[in-house]
Amino acid sequence: MRRASATAQVREQYAGGMGIDTASTIPPAASSEALRKAMVDTLRSWGGVRTAAVEAAMRAVPRHLFVPEASLERAYGPESVVTFRDEDGVAISSASGPGVVAAMLEQLDVRPGDRVLEIGAGTGYNAACLAELAGPSGSVTTIDIGPEIVEEARRGLAAAGYDRVLVRHGDGADGHAANAPYDRIIVTAGAWDAPPSWREQLAPGGRLVVPLRIRGVTRAVALELDGQVWRSVSIEECGFMPMRGPGAVEELNLELPPNRGVRIRVDDGRPVDVDALASALDASPVLAWSGVVVPWKPLVHLDFWLAGASAEVCRIIVLSRVREAGLVNPIYSWGSMGCYTSDTFAYLIRRPAPSEDGQEMVELGACAYGPDGQRLAAEVTGRVRAWGCSRDMLAGLRIEVHPAGSPNLPAMITADRRHSRVFVIIGPA
Ligand SMILES: C[S@@+](CC[C@H](N)C(=O)[O-])C[C@H]1O[C@@H](n2cnc3c(N)ncnc32)[C@H](O)[C@@H]1O
Repeated sequence: MRRASATAQVREQYAGGMGIDTASTIPPAASSEALRKAMVDTLRSWGGVRTAAVEAAMRAVPRHLFVPEASLERAYGPESVVTFRDEDGVAISSASGPGVVAAMLEQLDVRPGDRVLEIGAGTGYNAACLAELAGPSGSVTTIDIGPEIVEEARRGLAAAGYDRVLVRHGDGADGHAANAPYDRIIVTAGAWDAPPSWREQLAPGGRLVVPLRIRGVTRAVALELDGQVWRSVSIEECGFMPMRGPGAVEELNLELPPNRGVRIRVDDGRPVDVDALASALDASPVLAWSGVVVPWKPLVHLDFWLAGASAEVCRIIVLSRVREAGLVNPIYSWGSMGCYTSDTFAYLIRRPAPSEDGQEMVELGACAYGPDGQRLAAEVTGRVRAWGCSRDMLAGLRIEVHPAGSPNLPAMITADRRHSRVFVIIGPA
């Protein structure tokens, strides 16, 4: 493991991930106070920060002290700041982008006096925000699986005056029994499963916020317990580096050789023939348009809708480097949901449509590379059309996490894990 250098703190696939434009009006060479004010003002303006409590916490915590190697502009910019990488250069720790931090703090709804556990201490920045929210009568324990990361979180918290936060080394899959029970548990790494420790260590009436990885879609889900069953109370877009450790399930990030500018992320999917998919890039793409014209964002649960389709559809994400390679832009700056076969892949795209009532509108479509491109592009656009007719219904989408081996439920997606059975459900509870 090594610390990321300042120059290596480039925009990451995990950065932002909210699908929200967070451009702010930061003056050049501004002070940390001015930059912090601009950051929170921007978050307020687009609704990332909604409550006075989260606003006050984010106005209070000097974020730059937790990422000392980043410039002030970067520390207070909209993206995550990578702080540690593994031997292969893969980012393994970062300060999450402020938009993601704000959204998850809002979901967690920490009250003064709460006992809070954070899994994924990282830089310590979010733990400091949690300490502000829990106040002097509450407590915050934060744990990280990386010993050097733990030291760095301690350093940042001490520098910013948050010595009261307890920083421990450990695997978050076990929670931290020593300080349980907790009124709130927040996980700040992508979780494949919900281990029993989180249920056992949550106080009655408590809440868990966790970025759940389900078929290539990561969503920050606020969950409350109903007996043995976790039921969602809110779901937010996010992007996170996956949890590590003995129980972790790796997410595959496959570069199409030789460095074709396309990375395919597969979570829950079948094997990928990267050589065949790389050859697909030699031919011209097939573009297909769905005729579905919608306001540009939010695209209500479109990713889950696509992930819930047939076995070969939408289990990959095509990441943003395609733009640099001169290929067709994915739908978001960070990539698109897509799908693949043995030799062909397709992903979501958009093009501008005439604005309506001052609202930016887009038409959704698909771009496919490979010999089966016509069929795959048509399949994706067909699915988009079905989504277009189901958008109202999808607003009520919810997630339930049952113990492994629980009976089946009528669900759009059922994902079986070691400890749990995850259902993505449309319709009333
Ligand atoms: C995105 S960073 C967390 C950001 C952090 N909350 C902050 O405010 O800077 C994810 C962190 O999760 C940690 N992590 C990954 N797997 C873990 C596990 N099984 N247990 C505890 N921490 C883990 C990583 O080492 C990394 O530091």
